[in-house]
Amino acid sequence: MNLAYMKHFLALGPQVEYGPDVHEHIGQVAKSMGCHKALIVTDPNLMKAGIVDKIARPLKAEGIDVEIFAEVNTEPTDLYIHNGVDFLKQTGADLLVGLGGGSAMDCAKCIGVMSENQGHIRDYEGSDSNFPNDKKVPLITLPTTSGSGAEIAGWAVITDTSRSYKMSLGSPYLEPDYALVDPVLTIDLPRQQTAYSGFDALSQAMEGMLSRRRTPVSLALGMYAVRIISENLPKAVKYGWDVEARSNMSIGSLMAGIVINTSGCIAVHSLAETMGGIYHAPHGLMVGLILPHILKFLLPGDQELLAQFAKALGANTTGCSVYEAAHLSVSRVNQLLAELEFPTLTEIGLKEQDIANISQLALGNACTADNPCDMTGEDFEAVLGNMLTDTRSST
Ligand SMILES: [Fe+2]
Repeated sequence: MNLAYMKHFLALGPQVEYGPDVHEHIGQVAKSMGCHKALIVTDPNLMKAGIVDKIARPLKAEGIDVEIFAEVNTEPTDLYIHNGVDFLKQTGADLLVGLGGGSAMDCAKCIGVMSENQGHIRDYEGSDSNFPNDKKVPLITLPTTSGSGAEIAGWAVITDTSRSYKMSLGSPYLEPDYALVDPVLTIDLPRQQTAYSGFDALSQAMEGMLSRRRTPVSLALGMYAVRIISENLPKAVKYGWDVEARSNMSIGSLMAGIVINTSGCIAVHSLAETMGGIYHAPHGLMVGLILPHILKFLLPGDQELLAQFAKALGANTTGCSVYEAAHLSVSRVNQLLAELEFPTLTEIGLKEQDIANISQLALGNACTADNPCDMTGEDFEAVLGNMLTDTRSST
């Protein structure tokens, strides 16, 4: 594909401040937006850990009142969104602050748009969510994980509890207005969550580069993100207090977020969102386990790009043909999964009798349309069949 002759759409995201301690600027940012009362949407564990206080303090110092909605203790559901909208209206807050991982930030995005739109959040499912009202409550995001890219992306993944299904929603109205990306806020993230969210970022960078909507910008940022994440993720997992590793993960994750904001994800996310809803497993865990299987499926395609992935992932490709190097991308991802002690898909609960249902649901997922090659239900069934015998083999 010669990208030079194509037209490109770039969604580079909101204004971003990045670096240690930038969270302290939140009061000034809120004031410059003309806001008076902030509703912090967060996870109860961040309340207990004192992180919510760290954000409330600089808001209050600038005369901004603070309310807290600390209900997001699992991946977000439609119930959190509608309870959050009711709470926002009760408090009269004129600013939302999404503080946490992708769950809290996605929840805050949807509360902001649903407070100005009628109906149920499921009415807006899809990659081009059609919110009729162009008003929304302004949103500042502060990620406490390095993974989802939710701090900048105009996307949200919300579980529809009536179907046990993770829906994707995409709209410019879901895009935050300002992101404060502060690696200091990620220091206390436990090992397992660091590993899972980091794999989400790694996969998102690769998926955006493989997507049909890839651009020269997503290719450049994505390759840098793959390199910096694969170098730093094991260090951030083993030595959580390593500020340099945490900073590199924050910037890698931010770049991966820009990549998917502009180019989308592919079949890895179609399956991860579907299977995460069925097996109630964390998003990043599912993404990590599925990634090598989709890379393997794509091996007959753009081998040059897969060979570049292998190199960026730290594989020694000296003396390898493009074909051999492309195969090393799969084995390198499997090595990283083993190093970070990911379980296998059968341990998560994948069963042969679930395959037909998962395939049909994944086929209808918004990310499937951006896969570099068309995927049929039979293709998904074949990939899922391979997962049943997953031994993390190299090819
Ligand atoms: Fe993701």
